Amino acid sequence: MRRFLLLVLLASVCAGLARADGAGNPAPASSDSGEYYDKDGNPTYKIGADGTVDWFTFIGYRMYGANCLQCHGPDALGSSYAPSLVDSLKSLTTQQVQSTIINGKRDVTASQELVMPSFGENKNVMCYLEPIYVYLRARSDGALGRERPVKHEPKPDGWEKKVDSCFG
Ligand code: HEC
Repeated sequence: MRRFLLLVLLASVCAGLARADGAGNPAPASSDSGEYYDKDGNPTYKIGADGTVDWFTFIGYRMYGANCLQCHGPDALGSSYAPSLVDSLKSLTTQQVQSTIINGKRDVTASQELVMPSFGENKNVMCYLEPIYVYLRARSDGALGRERPVKHEPKPDGWEKKVDSCFG
């Protein structure tokens, strides 16, 4: 029994160490107004043992569904003409992901036409840039399954004000 517990402990420590993406180790190191940051200051997710997700991951799930799903597929797994973001985020940094969303990306050749629109002028995306990023980060790390997150942390104080002032 003791040995079993030790193995379980070792396995979970290893899983913790193995979990890293293009932005590095996603473990939350600080938080502010419901948003979590890793040790490098990049936005990250926090998912409790019972599956409760942080507010940003929950909002990101919804905004991904509204703005990105039609091309990148349900659950960010990709489609016939846009890549799987679950795969892409394994190697892209926070900066790279966010600048692709802001500026778009295109790869047009004789045999294919891949166009990622730029969302820099689209407030429905720009006002939720960090929530969308942390949702994708959690999906890419395998920390979040394919389903809609069932439980989430409460809406942080000042959230609506922040969104309203972004929409201006
Ligand atoms: C109209 C379809 C379309 C929509 C909507 C769209 N994308 Fe894309 N996206 C693409 C295509 C196509 C590519 C590949 C572009 C290329 O390879 O040059 C891409 C590439 C990307 C990449 C870079 C992937 C890599 O491996 O370099 C990221 C990150 C990304 N999209 C995120 C998003 C997010 C987040 C949203 C929602 C806010 C979104 N996209 C909405 C079509 C779309």
